[in-house]
Amino acid sequence: MKHTDIFDVLTKQELLGKEVTVCGWVRTFRDSAQVCFLELADGTSFARLQAVIAKDSVQLDPECSKNGAAVCVTGEVVKAYKGEGNELNVRSISLLGACPPEYPIQKKRTTLEFLRTIPHLRLRTNTFTAVFRVRSVAAQAIHRYFHEHRYYYINTPIITASDCEGAGEMFRVTTQPWNSKAESEAAYYKDDFFGKKAGLSVSGQLEGEVAATAFSKIYTFGPSFRAEKSNTTKHLSEFWHVEPEVAFAELPDIIEIAEEMLKYVIRAVLNECPDEMDFFDKFVEKGLKDKLNHVVESDFAVCDYTDAIKLLQEADVNFQFPVDWGCDLQTEHERYLTEQVFKKPVFVTNYPKEIKSFYMKQNADGKTVAATDLLVPGIGEIIGCSEREADLEKLKAAMVARGMDMSAYAQYLDLRVFGSVPHSGFGLGFERFVMYVTGIENIRDVTLFPRWVDNVM
Ligand code: 4AD
Ligand code: MG
Repeated sequence: MKHTDIFDVLTKQELLGKEVTVCGWVRTFRDSAQVCFLELADGTSFARLQAVIAKDSVQLDPECSKNGAAVCVTGEVVKAYKGEGNELNVRSISLLGACPPEYPIQKKRTTLEFLRTIPHLRLRTNTFTAVFRVRSVAAQAIHRYFHEHRYYYINTPIITASDCEGAGEMFRVTTQPWNSKAESEAAYYKDDFFGKKAGLSVSGQLEGEVAATAFSKIYTFGPSFRAEKSNTTKHLSEFWHVEPEVAFAELPDIIEIAEEMLKYVIRAVLNECPDEMDFFDKFVEKGLKDKLNHVVESDFAVCDYTDAIKLLQEADVNFQFPVDWGCDLQTEHERYLTEQVFKKPVFVTNYPKEIKSFYMKQNADGKTVAATDLLVPGIGEIIGCSEREADLEKLKAAMVARGMDMSAYAQYLDLRVFGSVPHSGFGLGFERFVMYVTGIENIRDVTLFPRWVDNVM
């Protein structure tokens, strides 16, 4: 259908006085004596287009005025009578798709909880239009950042036989019939599609390291899968993962890259989504824009894990989980550090090796690894990051200590045999980043069709 995007009609001066055809969905209808007004949205802009209909000259099918109806409108572009931008003086209007009154998107019932029950329709609301435009702009900015800094974009396998994080959170991939009876686990997988146990990747890191030790700078941006039974506002079973991997980079270098990349993407969102950010600032998180402007202008904090433990032990707060050196930080601890102590994003560094993954570089103290998590207010961890162990013997020792099957990682170990170099990388949970920049508090509201334990469609 030949038509003009509402974004163009609203913003392009050269369209003033011209006749255009616009297609969209009716958001509101107002009637007065001589004229009536339809607000139309087509998703190309956050602002809606006001279509002004003179009752004496335009035939209006009543179905065209119903909330949610899809219509096609032709008219002249004129300066808006009130406010900024343009509006449309309608010459003709036709119905594309009627919308019966059962349409669940009604002004009265638009809590996020309710909208979560209708994921196929919720994108037609202001909140979700704004979230998903920000999400798209942020994704583009991430690709742009890496492209401008000469990283190769690589695609790592989704089906894999090696568990990167080793936390037993892999979904299994199988074509075995449900009633297959096997004598042992090995026998069961021998008959399976790949002849061995396979699953959905929790991270593209291990293959990312392969590429980084050839191209120096690479990144992946794809889905990761975690069979965690964490029924929280920040866990999904399927999330999008941004994972750069950089050769000749040590922990301080990768921290610098993570901070620079995040600031770049936040700036892009602020610049490219002004209407959406105003909306979030007003209706979702008061002060959001000030917070983000402050974040891009100031340095992130860096705090050693051991110091973080002291800060938490000295805190005048009754944490649900006890704090001792060696414990994994819980969300409540992470949020206290970033919200109460530093009041900005903070990299917590040098965690005890027992609570972190096998591939992390072992520090000289023999107790900690060169790893960092980036914690942000409102969420806690959004980035998991480390320098990788480049020493073959130390890496093997860490794998033995964890009882890992070395044969499954033979190629990974080869990277330490043939021209091993210091290298580092991180994983940014893309949905958590979108939560941070929009102020949306539940990860299920920044994901088109969220999957979590007991929930899939
Ligand atoms: O800290 P994680 O587990 O680190 C890794 O997977 C490394 N291999 C990354 C790397 O160094 N290349 O996960 C990284 C990030 C977390 O900080 C979090 O933001 C996100 O991925 N994440 C999740 N997001 C949503 N739902 C889940 N279940 C997530 N698990 C991790
Ligand atoms: Mg982590």
